Amino acid sequence: MRANFLAATTLLATVASAAPFNSSSPPADEATRFSLIYGFPLIPFAKSAGDTLSIANATNKYYHMREIAGPLDQTIVRPNVDTLYSAAVIDLSHSDIVIDIPSIDNDRYWIYPFYDLYANNFANIGSTTNGTAGKYLVRYDPSKSKEIGVHLCSHIADRGADEGCDGYDGYINAPTPYGQLIARFEAMNNSTDFDTIHQLQNKSTIHLATRSRLGDATAPQLGPNMLNSSTYSGDIPTRIMQMLARFAPHNPPRNISDLPRVNRMLKTAGIDKGHYKSQVRNLTTVAQTAAQKVGVAFNQPQNVMNLTHDWQMIAPAAQGEYNTNYYMRAFMANWGYLALTAQESLYPMYAGDGDTLKLGADEAYIFTFSGKPPVMKQGFWSLTAYNAQKYLIENTQDQYSVSDRSGLTYSDGTPVYGDDAGKQTQFQVLVQPADKEPPKNWTSNWLPAPAGGGQFDLTLRFYAPEDELKNGSWEFPVVQKHKAITE
Ligand SMILES: *[C@@H]1O[C@H](CO)[C@@H](O)[C@H](O)[C@H]1NC(C)=O
Ligand SMILES: *[C@@H]1O[C@H](CO)[C@@H](O)[C@H](O)[C@H]1NC(C)=O
Ligand SMILES: *[C@@H]1O[C@H](CO)[C@@H](O)[C@H](O)[C@H]1NC(C)=O
Ligand SMILES: *[C@@H]1O[C@H](CO)[C@@H](O)[C@H](O)[C@H]1NC(C)=O
Ligand SMILES: *[C@@H]1O[C@H](CO)[C@@H](O)[C@H](O)[C@H]1NC(C)=O
Ligand SMILES: *[C@@H]1O[C@H](CO)[C@@H](O)[C@H](O)[C@H]1NC(C)=O
Ligand SMILES: *[C@@H]1O[C@H](CO)[C@@H](O)[C@H](O)[C@H]1NC(C)=O
Ligand SMILES: *[C@@H]1O[C@H](CO)[C@@H](O)[C@H](O)[C@H]1NC(C)=O
Ligand SMILES: *[C@@H]1O[C@H](CO)[C@@H](O)[C@H](O)[C@H]1NC(C)=O
Ligand SMILES: *[C@@H]1O[C@H](CO)[C@@H](O)[C@H](O)[C@H]1NC(C)=O
Ligand SMILES: *[C@@H]1O[C@H](CO)[C@@H](O)[C@H](O)[C@H]1NC(C)=O
Ligand SMILES: *[C@@H]1O[C@H](CO)[C@@H](O)[C@H](O)[C@H]1NC(C)=O
Repeated sequence: MRANFLAATTLLATVASAAPFNSSSPPADEATRFSLIYGFPLIPFAKSAGDTLSIANATNKYYHMREIAGPLDQTIVRPNVDTLYSAAVIDLSHSDIVIDIPSIDNDRYWIYPFYDLYANNFANIGSTTNGTAGKYLVRYDPSKSKEIGVHLCSHIADRGADEGCDGYDGYINAPTPYGQLIARFEAMNNSTDFDTIHQLQNKSTIHLATRSRLGDATAPQLGPNMLNSSTYSGDIPTRIMQMLARFAPHNPPRNISDLPRVNRMLKTAGIDKGHYKSQVRNLTTVAQTAAQKVGVAFNQPQNVMNLTHDWQMIAPAAQGEYNTNYYMRAFMANWGYLALTAQESLYPMYAGDGDTLKLGADEAYIFTFSGKPPVMKQGFWSLTAYNAQKYLIENTQDQYSVSDRSGLTYSDGTPVYGDDAGKQTQFQVLVQPADKEPPKNWTSNWLPAPAGGGQFDLTLRFYAPEDELKNGSWEFPVVQKHKAITE
């Protein structure tokens, strides 16, 4: 995964040739490095918000994804096959918005997560948190920067004292006027369930409301032009700086106490009055050291947890809400953009076998789970396979993941998710090339890898994890390479 990040990042070309970090480098280098790390999430924001906008046609309007992704869906990398989405680009610069959350059965994992411009998951309403149906006012008011997040009106004694509760079930204060909302609904393993989700999507609405406070009257309306890459330099580091020049003046850091430092750094780096002028001799070199520092930060104990059997996980405090941890914010913008907080989901990564998974044509991996992963009743888990391009792997079974809904069986053939919810014994998953069909008793536990073998990628997802997962005390699966099982 370390290698993954460094290879994939658009911040740098080659790390190997980067100069070692020079601690006595000039202030402009230091400030530019800071700015590149600080501004990196704007690159995936432009892509993600730009894509949503091009389908929804407007900000503050949902695009409802109605079907689960398949191998032919190649607009986003590592799509999940667990949830349907409803996505909206949020712009609170000229109006507040009111979102309607329908009543949803709590056996299903569901969430309406709010992200600020820099991908902080600053508020959640869902099956694990504050899951009350109703009308919520969402607004951006810099004078309320200490009260970011969800405020349920049922928890506020004197409702009249705060106009955020006037006719609403709750209100949400946003840290930046621009952001995203990407509601997710767990898809159960049955054909009538899509219809149920579509109804929930159809009942999810966004309305504009008159802005309740003055806010930042100077922030422009967010339009497609501001997200269009051809508005900016083709050189990614330059583009980050240009986007920062445009967005940062109206979109403060999540931790508002850091605003003076951020402004000072951006200014020293050459960002002034909406424009960027380079202050360094070679921006490419500075970007390389920035990427290197992000890679170093990822390996620090406060940011990553080592788990049993060669698994690793982003430390819960370093995922989703980043405060002033701009290194991890940049890391996640590249590796897991729009990650939720650890309370909602965990994405452990297998770090054995030289950081990349690879199979010969006649090989397989066997994952031995110590028992059912401890997720809450309304949670779910899945293990999904991707090819080298990070898209779903074509196979005749249409099996793209194994999960708590995929019909896994124990070695005696009984279902793992059957009547005996309390049973905790081991079960195995077979990751084997799509063209090497295993014997019948393995079919329901078979996760097809690319036909013919080769390099690929797996994502383990835990939604609504229990404490044993969050604190790393659960025994993670043992992963072993094996000869392909064909008879
Ligand atoms: C580090 O930066 C200082 C100040 O610009 C410079 O004098 C010095 O030569 C640099 N050292 C290295 C190893 O690049
Ligand atoms: C966006 O506009 C296009 C073309 O007018 C239309 O086909 C599409 O349905 C619109 N999308 C939404 C979500 O309204
Ligand atoms: C849930 O609501 C409570 C009460 O309004 C609030 O303090 C808390 O921050 C909310 N939690 C999340 C994750 O938004
Ligand atoms: C299938 O989904 C529907 C709608 O969500 C649900 O009511 C029903 O219980 C599900 N059936 C099974 C067998 O899980
Ligand atoms: C949801 O809305 C779409 C578009 O308006 C409509 O075609 C579809 O039938 C609706 N689905 C359900 C289940 O209400
Ligand atoms: C981005 O801008 C270019 C050049 O102005 C234009 O050709 C292109 O259609 C725009 N793309 C989008 C998605 O708006
Ligand atoms: C915000 O950042 C300041 C320093 O920039 C730090 O002292 C403070 O603890 C941070 N606030 C929170 C809530 O972590
Ligand atoms: C900047 O540095 C990169 C590699 O560090 C090098 O390839 C490039 O030629 C340099 N550009 C200039 C203008 O010196
Ligand atoms: C995690 O393991 C790696 C190597 O396996 C080691 O370099 C690193 O220091 C460990 N980190 C922690 C926080 O224990
Ligand atoms: C879920 O779907 C798979 C096919 O994708 C099927 O084999 C399995 O039996 C189903 N499981 C349940 C519990 O319905
Ligand atoms: C399939 O059968 C073999 C041989 O009896 C056994 O070792 C293996 O655990 C079984 N696999 C599953 C997933 O039940
Ligand atoms: C992790 O959480 C579990 C369940 O709450 C608890 O029993 C265990 O002691 C915790 N372990 C650590 C290391 O905190």
